[in-house]
Amino acid sequence: MCMEIRDNTLYFDGCDTTALAKTYGTPLYAYSQTALEDRFRALHTEFLDKWENTRAAYAAKAFCTPALLRLVKDAGLCVDVVSGGELTCALSADFPAERIEFNGNNKLPAELELAVESGVGRIIIDGLQELSLLESICARKGKKMKVLYRVTPGVKADTHDYIITGKKDSKFGIPLDEDIIYPAIKAAIDSPWVDLLGLHFHVGSQLFEVRPYLEALEVVLGLVKETWTRYHFAMTELNVGGGFGICYTDEVPKGYGWYLDPLMERIDTFFRDLGLPRPAVVTEPGRSVVGEAGITLYTVGSIKDIPGVRKYVSVDGGMTDNIRPALYQAKYRAIAANKAEAPATETVTVCGKCCESGDVLLRDAALPTLEAGDTLAVFSTGAYGYSMASNYNSNPIPAVALVKEGRSGLMVRRQTWEDLLATSCNPGL
Ligand code: LLP
Repeated sequence: MCMEIRDNTLYFDGCDTTALAKTYGTPLYAYSQTALEDRFRALHTEFLDKWENTRAAYAAKAFCTPALLRLVKDAGLCVDVVSGGELTCALSADFPAERIEFNGNNKLPAELELAVESGVGRIIIDGLQELSLLESICARKGKKMKVLYRVTPGVKADTHDYIITGKKDSKFGIPLDEDIIYPAIKAAIDSPWVDLLGLHFHVGSQLFEVRPYLEALEVVLGLVKETWTRYHFAMTELNVGGGFGICYTDEVPKGYGWYLDPLMERIDTFFRDLGLPRPAVVTEPGRSVVGEAGITLYTVGSIKDIPGVRKYVSVDGGMTDNIRPALYQAKYRAIAANKAEAPATETVTVCGKCCESGDVLLRDAALPTLEAGDTLAVFSTGAYGYSMASNYNSNPIPAVALVKEGRSGLMVRRQTWEDLLATSCNPGL
């Protein structure tokens, strides 16, 4: 395990977290390379090595920096990007373009241009309008691209409403209506500029059930069969998305195989019965790769005890480095890194420094008595923390450190106040 308590102090992948806070300042995102490598290995042993003709494309939206994507690349994984920015990041990490997959419900012309120009391995298109746009770019550049269609399987997963993506009323994917989906599939089959490989779905995020995946898969297999019947066209690739749940407080994570084995078994049987070869199968995990591998360190500042109401403990970050509690009522676990063996004696609300009452990181957290200057460590912040960070209140975005077996280095340096002015212009009116 990467977390250890020695001399009343929290150690993370062999590093004294209070020393990390001193060296790099706070707030600080810290990632354990050992924990990341464990997750990469789990993808290999529980999925890639177990099933032939499979790929795992890390969903970069969970946490995207060149240093991290270099580790992902070295682990032999693919990467799923959703913007020109993430694509540029992957290219700057020397990710082979063939191993980059491009998702998104409204890819901009300039983003598709870059994707075609750099020769990404897959473009997961969201509908006919995108197909036409892509065809015109491909025709202009004289390049043919491999594509999948993302479909909206119309299933409802049990998670926060904001992170459900597969239900019918969704901005993602092509709806299943006969007169929308089949003309779109036919147009891609007939297009000289794209090579249609198959279908993609993603049902939601932070899921602990296999049911919605299996339901979505059934819908997609129905489309595969109907496409074969209507056009004698065989799909050669299926992408089942990501969404595997992690532990924030008391959730018990399941292994990759727990979700993916039943899907693979169903896919195998289905194609055997249909008399067609089993397509390549791709998964797109984000949170489950980086979420538990990251923690955030803060320094405690102002403490306000409102008698009979609540005790507020303010830290030097907040919703600017972790919007998830404010946006999704997400829960986290924290400990005092420099009083790691002290018993929890108080129930406090840990809040940030933004001018916003909703800027709360932990509600009713059981912690030892905290004082200004203490280091607070919040666990499982590795996914959708840094990647959703903002400059609200002109707060600089924190640094990101990578630690391994007692050594540490920066993946991203802290923004400075000067950085915040770097894009300012004088309109000269
Ligand atoms: N593939 C597609 C097409 C997706 O839309 C997503 C996530 C993933 C893969 C990766 O899902 P994961 O394995 O990370 O659950 N900001 C929210 C999460 C939004 C997820 C959106 N799509 C949060 O902080 O909970």
